[in-house]
Amino acid sequence: MKILAIETSCDETAASVLQIKGGSFKIQSNIVSSQIKIHAKYGGIVPEVAARKHVELIIPVINDALKKSGIKNPRKEIDVIAVTEGPGLVTSLLVGMEAAKTFSYLWNKPLIGVNHIAGHIYSPLLENKKVKFPILSLVVSGGHTELVLMKDFEKFKVVGQTIDDAAGEAFDKVAKILELQYPGGPVISKLAEKGDAKVFDFPRPMKGSKDFNFSFSGLKTAALYKVKSQRSKVKGQKLYDICASFEEAVADVLVYKTIKAADKYKVKTILLGGGVSANTRLRKKLKSEVKNKLPNVNCQMSKVKYTGDNAAMIGLAGYLKYKYGKNKNKFKNNWRTLRANPELEL
Ligand code: KG4
Ligand code: ZN
Repeated sequence: MKILAIETSCDETAASVLQIKGGSFKIQSNIVSSQIKIHAKYGGIVPEVAARKHVELIIPVINDALKKSGIKNPRKEIDVIAVTEGPGLVTSLLVGMEAAKTFSYLWNKPLIGVNHIAGHIYSPLLENKKVKFPILSLVVSGGHTELVLMKDFEKFKVVGQTIDDAAGEAFDKVAKILELQYPGGPVISKLAEKGDAKVFDFPRPMKGSKDFNFSFSGLKTAALYKVKSQRSKVKGQKLYDICASFEEAVADVLVYKTIKAADKYKVKTILLGGGVSANTRLRKKLKSEVKNKLPNVNCQMSKVKYTGDNAAMIGLAGYLKYKYGKNKNKFKNNWRTLRANPELEL
C-alpha cells in the first residue's frame, strides 16, 4: 500500500510518499519546503504570506515527492491520500486540503484527514520502532505543549497541556526579547551551548501544581525583566547564560511533569515529538531522568530531522488512522465533506 501525505498547517509546504508492506513501512520520499527565511524578516509567521507561498509550492512539492519515490503513474500506484486537517492556520491548511481533495476526487482514492498533533505524537515511530502501550507522549511545538496518554493506537487522552503559551512560543518570544532571529528555538539552543544554566534564576511555573498542566508565559516576562535590569544590551557570555538558564527552566518543568505523569499512569513507553523536541538539553534531560527514575520505561524520541513539520509523520498518522480507525468506508468519499479545521482536537 502506498500513501501520499500532504502537510501545510503552518509555514512548511510538505509532501511524502510512504510504502507499507507487511506491517512495516518505508519513507520513499519526504519533501519539506520551508518558508522560515521569508517569515524571519517579519519576526514571525505572517498567515497571508504563508498561504500565498503554499499556493505557489503545493503542486511542485507534491510532484517532487511523487518523482523521488519512483512513482510513474500516481493514479495507479497511490492507494490512499492523507492530509493535515488541523489544527493550524486556516489559510495554510486550506491549500493542502484542497489539493488533497482534488487528487482524491481525480484518482478516486480514499482521503484521510489527519490531526497534526497525532503526526507529532507518532513521529518517533517513523523509524519503524515497536512500542508497548500504555504510552505517554510529550508533544512540544510552536503551537502546542501536551501530555497525551494512549492505551492503544488512535486512543488519545490529553492529560496535561499548557494553560497559556506553548513551549516553542516561549522560545520564539524570549528570542524576540533578546533581539535574536525567528524562530527562536534553534538560535537560543545554539547560544545556550556556551552558557551556564545556573547563572540566571528563572521560575519553574506550575512545577508544584498537582495536575500535569504547564505555563510558559511567565518565563517570557521573567526574561524581559532580566534584560531590562541589565545596563546595556545583553550579549556575549551574559547572552549565552540567559539562553541556557531559560532553556533549563523549560526543560526542567517539561521533564518533571512527564516523569510524574508517566509514573502515575504506569506507562511502558514515553514518546517525545514536535519542533521543540529538537532541543538537545530537553532530549538529554528526559533520557537521563527516565533512566534514573523509571528504568523500566522505554523512551523514544523523534529523530531530529522529523521533529519539525513534515509530511512523513502525517502519512504514518494517516496509515494508523486508516488501519485502527472504525469506519474505513467513510474515507472513500471524504473529498466531498472533509474540511480544514484550525481548532481540531485530538
Ligand atoms: O513542530 P513545529 O515545527 O511547528 C509547529 O507545529 O508549531 O515547531 C516549531 C517550534 C518553534 O517555536 C521553534 O522555535 C521550536 O519549534 N524549535 C525549537 C528548536 N527547534 C525548533 N525549540 C527549542 N529548541 C530547538 N532546538
Ligand atoms: Zn507542528
